[in-house]
Amino acid sequence: MNQKMKRIRQIFVALVLIAAVEGFSSCEKYSFPQPAVDPNATWHLQADIQPIFNSNCITCHGGIQSPDLRSGKSYLALTKGGFVKSPGESSILYHQITTNTDHIPRTTSAEKLKILYWISQGALNN
Ligand code: HEC
Repeated sequence: MNQKMKRIRQIFVALVLIAAVEGFSSCEKYSFPQPAVDPNATWHLQADIQPIFNSNCITCHGGIQSPDLRSGKSYLALTKGGFVKSPGESSILYHQITTNTDHIPRTTSAEKLKILYWISQGALNN
């Protein structure tokens, strides 16, 4: 192969590599990595947990199906029913959202962690 052909081939290979790298990095833009959930931050029922119940749970847990997870009802239902006893990992609430196949897909892993940390921090009515 003459020198010119070699050069052209090198440039072609370089362009393919650049295109591949660009392709990967542009995919990353659309993968929306979840922000880390900080276990040392204080997690609040009203601000952090209730919105998860509102979007993912109250269609079923809206009064008839226990626990009642509607705003204003969830705290009493969860504490009186013994769903949020420490340690968080073995509480009924965390157990349901991480092991019951009907419940697992209803929360993201970040939401599961927020619920876990809220329970571990004493499941306060905060
Ligand atoms: C499609 C309806 C449906 C949705 C949505 C739903 N659940 Fe449930 N859940 C049920 C049913 C039915 C039961 C009772 C049977 C069972 O344990 O699977 C139940 C049981 C539970 C229990 C255990 C109750 C007990 O007495 O032990 C908890 C805790 C719970 N759900 C939490 C949640 C949370 C938190 C969400 C939202 C992330 C949620 N559920 C979303 C239908 C639902």
